[in-house]
Amino acid sequence: MEQELDWKNLSFGYMPTDYNVRCRYKDGKWGEIEVSQSEMVNLHIAATCLHYGQEIFEGLKAFRGKDGKIRIFRLEENARRIANSARGLLMAPIPEDLFREMVLKVVKLNERFVPPYGSGASLYIRPLEIGVSAQVGVKPASEYLFIILVSPVGPYFKTGFKPTNICIMRQYDRVAPRGTGMWKVGGNYAASLAAGEHAHELGYSAVLYLDPKEKKYLDECGPANFIAIKDGVYITPKSDSILPSITNKSLMQLAEDMGMKVECRHIPVEELAEVDEAAAVGTAAVASPVGRIDDLDTGIQYQILKDGKPGPVVTKLYETLRGIQYADLPDTHGWCTVVE
Ligand code: PLP
Ligand code: COI
Repeated sequence: MEQELDWKNLSFGYMPTDYNVRCRYKDGKWGEIEVSQSEMVNLHIAATCLHYGQEIFEGLKAFRGKDGKIRIFRLEENARRIANSARGLLMAPIPEDLFREMVLKVVKLNERFVPPYGSGASLYIRPLEIGVSAQVGVKPASEYLFIILVSPVGPYFKTGFKPTNICIMRQYDRVAPRGTGMWKVGGNYAASLAAGEHAHELGYSAVLYLDPKEKKYLDECGPANFIAIKDGVYITPKSDSILPSITNKSLMQLAEDMGMKVECRHIPVEELAEVDEAAAVGTAAVASPVGRIDDLDTGIQYQILKDGKPGPVVTKLYETLRGIQYADLPDTHGWCTVVE
């Protein structure tokens, strides 16, 4: 039974659901999966997540198709990525099978919160891992807690699939060169808050970060990767200070399937003057078209879309991705896991 909610007007936010699932790592091994109805965690005051930022997370989505079935998009990729993030912060990696079992369990338990087909909404799945044992010296914890919560969500940018403007501000970096940018670490998001709020105050939907070492090349766009279409070629930044986006990886595949050339390479800021379309891509952002990019340091405004309407290639990529997620199109790459 689906919950009666105003599905079409959901925003991207937290909403309580029935259950979350948890698993503890102690004495060198992961324990039993626990199903919880509590929205709280009880933590030691010296837990490493509170002091030294041992926190990593993920974001993936479940979609309800026309056939009523629920499908989860590329969960194996998120399983691999969180294990990588864990290794990066010397935390206990979650075995892929355990990740999978817990994702399927939490979605099944909260089935009534998976938005109906046609609403454009989805169930956002948020796994997170924290260091929970006490440390005062700067050392990794010996015990970890892995939790998965879910929340029904609508579009990340309030405008939905409408172009928004973004900006470049060189006074902010999200991460350091050779820092933690390639992992999904809570601290990266803490470090991005001031820039994000500043951009919002100025009327932009997100910050387009430049590479933190030279400030010459495009990096990523708030909580999303950046892509552009130039002369029919899909271009996206190559950088080791950005999160390897699963949405971007999927869109690159779809672009190739459409016969497009895909280039993952350094993109100098000035090249923005030559692009025909651009988008912020990610689980939450999906593929949000970019209308204009303002470089607030040089004063250059890169007007990407001339008529304020999403461009044809980004629109096609967006529709194909959504089509696969909602099972309106065949899942030729085997990206979806049906929840039985
Ligand atoms: N970059 C950052 C910083 C993000 O937070 C996200 C969101 O997860 C992405 C990129 C997009 O990654 P994905 O497509 O795997 O959601
Ligand atoms: C996602 O796209 O899953 C994100 O994590 C973005 C943001 C809400 C942190």
